Amino acid sequence: MRLFVAIDLPDSVKERLEAIITELSTCRADVRWVHFDLMHVTLKFLGNVEPQELVAIDGVLSRIAANTQPAQGRLHNVGSFPHLRRPRVLWIGVETHNGMLAALHADLDAALAKLGFSEGIRRFHPHITLGRMRGNRRLSTLREAVEKQSGHKAEIFKIRHLTLFESRQRHGSTRYTALSTHSFEAR
Ligand code: 2AM
Repeated sequence: MRLFVAIDLPDSVKERLEAIITELSTCRADVRWVHFDLMHVTLKFLGNVEPQELVAIDGVLSRIAANTQPAQGRLHNVGSFPHLRRPRVLWIGVETHNGMLAALHADLDAALAKLGFSEGIRRFHPHITLGRMRGNRRLSTLREAVEKQSGHKAEIFKIRHLTLFESRQRHGSTRYTALSTHSFEAR
């Protein structure tokens, strides 16, 4: 099973993301846009996992969620990895008070490392992937459109839980199934 841990997004945020993508896609650049319904903030990518490992993973997720306070997130700043000059992945950032998502990511990384999942080497940058570049057609128009969206702040939303997702490819399309949800309970 191919698994990842993520923050699921409320419908109001997904609707906003759909509007942003509709605007960016008018550039007609060569981007494979993510369907808004699949959008999430990845906290930790686990890769291929044996089903018998699920109980231990769920145990870690429950313990960490029980020690995490619900928080507010806000969409902030459209950008690109590795750089807007050479875009491969287009994203929108997610801002939280006191770097709550970065702290949560670090807790997950450390606890899951004890189960044998390697710790991420890249700096964690909380984001929602909007699309992936397929080619360089109309790149400068896209860059201008992204720059227009930069600094843009939208929707405040509540982050109340984390979710363990299974990712599956079926007939060339991606499907995510929520296997378990763990509520944030610290006060
Ligand atoms: P992303 O948020 O940057 O797009 C499900 O596939 C999620 O896991 C994706 O949203 C993706 O992150 C992340 N992901 C997929 N493959 C990955 C990998 N090899 N390393 C890290 N994260 C990965």
